[in-house]
Amino acid sequence: MTTHRISPALDDQARAILKGNDRGGYTVPTDGLYPYQWNWDSAFAAWGFSTFDLDRAWTELETLFSAQWDDGMVPHIIFHKPDPGYFPGPEVWGTNKTPATSGISQPPVAATMARLILEVDPVAGRERIAALWPRILAWHRWWRDYRCGSGVVAITHPWESGRDNCPDWDIGMAGVDGSNVGEYTRRDTGHVDPSMRPGKDEYDRYLAMVQFGRACGWDQREIVANGPFLMEDPGITFILTRANDDLAAMGRELGHDVSEIEGWAADLRAAAPKLWNPETRGFDARDLRTGRFADRIGSAAFLAYLAGVETPELAARMDGIWNAVRYGFPSADPAAESFEPRRYWRGPSWPVVNALMAIGLKDRGLDDAAERLRRETAELIEAHGFFEYFDPTDGTPCGGDAFTWTAAIWLTWAGADGPAKGGA
Ligand code: GLC
Repeated sequence: MTTHRISPALDDQARAILKGNDRGGYTVPTDGLYPYQWNWDSAFAAWGFSTFDLDRAWTELETLFSAQWDDGMVPHIIFHKPDPGYFPGPEVWGTNKTPATSGISQPPVAATMARLILEVDPVAGRERIAALWPRILAWHRWWRDYRCGSGVVAITHPWESGRDNCPDWDIGMAGVDGSNVGEYTRRDTGHVDPSMRPGKDEYDRYLAMVQFGRACGWDQREIVANGPFLMEDPGITFILTRANDDLAAMGRELGHDVSEIEGWAADLRAAAPKLWNPETRGFDARDLRTGRFADRIGSAAFLAYLAGVETPELAARMDGIWNAVRYGFPSADPAAESFEPRRYWRGPSWPVVNALMAIGLKDRGLDDAAERLRRETAELIEAHGFFEYFDPTDGTPCGGDAFTWTAAIWLTWAGADGPAKGGA
């Protein structure tokens, strides 16, 4: 299939955003609002760079993994250089690492992105992936050892899911006591419209979880056993399943024995049906402290396609939710009372999640749906630019502007009529 770039001018802008957000070996998600290196943002940035600067693409991943903890965890934020414009900063997390980092992780998309980057030039990438591969393996092992006790992946803080305040976590958040966190000043609401960001009550609870982690010296077993929040996340479960496949595929090429990784992927696939909630007829998050389902359905449920996990009802559920909005896939169910089309993860459409979903749809042979998602995402970016996310009902651009991962997704996927994966 031939690829046709929709707009060379937008391609130029997207490259300029990646270069402009480059702080030397890593990119910030956007200037101001997010002044550090974020885990899954960086993996997408690397994919974006691979369309015009392969060396820089690998460097992005290498910098991310240079902050890996001894236990294998790759942190969600790396505080390379102090920046007073962001809260909670390194002193709040108190992880005592060099470089300073947060104490939680984020969706493990790095293996999947690395494989896409490797496909652009397998010969040039061989040494780079050979060095990175054991590090990614150690991270996947961390998820397996610490977070897959129930069979699927559990998170210990909503921020770990990457879908920070989506309705999936409301039920778990309700059990967190945020009343003793003390005084603090948020910085996010100084950068963007507060009505798009989480409220104070939620922020107090987010901080309570951080304070618990810090108080126990970020002891992973203690956080999982007794921390304020523990929920199974369909999003990371599906992302990790797919990432294990990708890690195994790259490992085979490198001559490694990948049977252990294949086993992890098989176990996750075998356990995934337990996330199916017959009430909502979708893959759902579950609160492990109470055993209750969240009774929500959103974009994470359809990352099942990315993992090759399907049910007879999945496609019909997807169409129903999607057809209720006009632009891109909504992060949360438009029919739910909790739906807010402009507030962070409670309804808006995220180009980056659309791209992941489309990779899955394409792999499952659902080409028309993949193309619809690409077209709708492209329309948003063409009309409004490279915003962080969009209102899926009317396309209103929201959050930060000149956003790294939106630019990356344009270059790799949304900006071309053609295949849903691979470089330009
Ligand atoms: C927000 C998002 C998260 C992202 C970060 C940086 O916290 O919810 O997914 O990684 O911003 O863009």
